[in-house]
Amino acid sequence: MAAFNELVFSGVQPTGNLHLGNYLGAIKRFVEMQERNAQCLYCVVDLHAITLWQDPQALRGQIREVTAAFLAAGIDPKRSIVFNQSQVPQHAELAWIFNCVARLGWLNRMTQFKDKAGKDRENASIGLYDYPVLMAADILAYRATHVPVGEDQKQHLELTRDIAQKFNNDFGSSIQAHGHGEQFFPITEPLIGGPAARVMSLRDGTKKMSKSDPSEYSRIALTDDADAIAQKVRKAKTDPEALPSEVEGLKGRPEADNLVGIFAALRGITREDVLKDFGGAQFSSFKPALVDLAVETLAPINAEMKRLVADPAHIDAVLADGAARAEAIAAPTLDAVKDIVGFVRRGPALRAV
Ligand code: TRP
Repeated sequence: MAAFNELVFSGVQPTGNLHLGNYLGAIKRFVEMQERNAQCLYCVVDLHAITLWQDPQALRGQIREVTAAFLAAGIDPKRSIVFNQSQVPQHAELAWIFNCVARLGWLNRMTQFKDKAGKDRENASIGLYDYPVLMAADILAYRATHVPVGEDQKQHLELTRDIAQKFNNDFGSSIQAHGHGEQFFPITEPLIGGPAARVMSLRDGTKKMSKSDPSEYSRIALTDDADAIAQKVRKAKTDPEALPSEVEGLKGRPEADNLVGIFAALRGITREDVLKDFGGAQFSSFKPALVDLAVETLAPINAEMKRLVADPAHIDAVLADGAARAEAIAAPTLDAVKDIVGFVRRGPALRAV
């Protein structure tokens, strides 16, 4: 069995309207992983973004904006590798090889494709269908062992594991012959959870907070200033009851559960802890506390994002540096994969057989 060093990879799509769900469910956790792990790679997945049509000018801005959000939230581009996917050609290259490993039947089960393609499936791009294979390539180009993702990406992570396993099996003897032990790709662990695994809409606690919800009041955008944040929290939908003192009391109260979950995630505590302080409180006293906490946490990130976005040359330099460092890890993986698969490539094979 090959041993794999702990390596964290995750990606965020540059499709606009970054919101509190992206921050609590992804970016804030990326910062926590950075404090704990040897190597983290955080990727702005622009190749994934164009599976649905993007306005080119807007896309460029959104790539820089996601990068700015990463940096403003505390991702350190010296310790972590921050880059955009299209600058590292190994993602697309490995995706092609995985296209020949993954089975149609596996992709036909992907629920996100069904949701995104909607009724008019004939008119969906082939890229949208192939999206999960590219995602597997993102992760496995670095042989990443851990991937922090939202609940909605669980099925894609399972597909990644299936692809790794099938590659390891299909090419088992070649993998061994090239001196990689029994497993070339690790079986990646998804890291899903925390109080904000799902941040819900502020207008409807049964729907996920979403960039595409027509109501601005459904989400707190990372570009919202203090006034906008305060207004949205004050207007958030609630029910007429006081907060319960136990977590069980949040069952069947989606809006209350969501606001308590947001409070917990912003503070870095559990729902239980929040209810220890606020059990029995009315929303009229809980909401102002949530406003203060949200503004205190998000306003500095918002201000720093504004500062960074005003200097695109700096952002582009961070992305170029990250891409070079990412490629230094991914290129040897692809060389090894080509040898394992049986391609003839430029330069010496890692081990001639
Ligand atoms: N599909 C992910 C999402 O929409 C984004 C993503 C692309 C990703 N490649 C990845 C996440 C690799 C983790 C690892 O959230």
